[in-house]
Amino acid sequence: AQDKRESLYVLSNWAGKYFKEQLWETEAGKSIGLSYFKERGYREDIIQKFDLGYSPDQWEALSSAALKAGFQKEYLKEIGLCIEREDGNIYDRFRGRVIFPIHNLTGRIIGFGGRTLKTEKSVPKYVNSPESDIYHKSDVLYGLNFAKKSIMDNDTCYLVEGYADVLSMHQAGIENVVSSSGTSLTTGQIKLISRFTKNVVILYDGDAAGIKASLRGTDMLLEEGLNVKVLLFPDGDDPDSYVQKVGSTAFREYLDAHQEDFIFYKTNILLKDAGHDPIKRAEVIRDVVQSIALIPDEIKISVFIKQCSTLLDIEERVLLTELNKMKLDKA
Ligand code: GTP
Ligand code: MN
Ligand code: MN
Ligand code: MN
Ligand code: MN
Repeated sequence: AQDKRESLYVLSNWAGKYFKEQLWETEAGKSIGLSYFKERGYREDIIQKFDLGYSPDQWEALSSAALKAGFQKEYLKEIGLCIEREDGNIYDRFRGRVIFPIHNLTGRIIGFGGRTLKTEKSVPKYVNSPESDIYHKSDVLYGLNFAKKSIMDNDTCYLVEGYADVLSMHQAGIENVVSSSGTSLTTGQIKLISRFTKNVVILYDGDAAGIKASLRGTDMLLEEGLNVKVLLFPDGDDPDSYVQKVGSTAFREYLDAHQEDFIFYKTNILLKDAGHDPIKRAEVIRDVVQSIALIPDEIKISVFIKQCSTLLDIEERVLLTELNKMKLDKA
């Protein structure tokens, strides 16, 4: 089994090199893939650092090169570089896409994300490697291998939605950033972050999906004992589009000025919806207390209950009663 995993690593590494070569050294790669990355504003050093690549728009470009290089069909299927047809022949999963390799903590390639260059809505924007013996999505954070030192140095980790966000922030000189890339945040991923820091700032996209994911992510992070701040980008923007738009200095200033403790973030978001309706306001209070109840630290709980009492203009005693009821219900 160890041998098999090692073979899968070797194959992934080979495929990473293959995609990279296609990007930098073929006409199609240069004119389609490389120019795509450059049009998005990525510098060559960033494109190199993240091992970005290009997969030719052909059914069997990688498959036949890999078979020729001596790799087994079974392994190509196992890590999802290829898909088998009913007749037993295989074809490339990532054809015609730009490639974002996914690295593990030690920097070995374990999977790939491929972005389409087409704009039709019918084509999935990203295709990702499936689960395999070397790639367990729920235990991987994109960019962590490049971020871990900076996360420790800054004692903070920025959490973003996508590959592009990680790249653009690195390019802006902010390297303590990781992405759960498409999958919703998992406990395994949070445990991974907490090996390096207890402080997380959520930087999700400024859209309805981003808001929803930020609230869910907040609760999960709190439950694992992490300190959570949140920042929402202007509607329609994500960290990538925003930093490319305003530049790195303004981006840093925006980050510093707009990140807020989860409790302010959550309260404000929910209160906006509730307006002056007293019943809805009561639900907001309960909802916020519910998040506080997840925190596994009594001292932090009492600090947040105090803040919550001020923010919502409710007596602490009432909030504490509610909190204790919730804890009893959970137990
Ligand atoms: P860009 O348009 O390249 O900037 O993508 P994005 O990262 O802004 O994409 P978006 O915010 O829509 O999604 C965030 C992340 O979710 C992406 O980076 C992908 O990892 C993942 N994702 C997005 N679209 C798809 C999809 O169609 N299929 C899958 N499996 N994952 C996706
Ligand atoms: Mn396994
Ligand atoms: Mn989005
Ligand atoms: Mn996005
Ligand atoms: Mn984006």
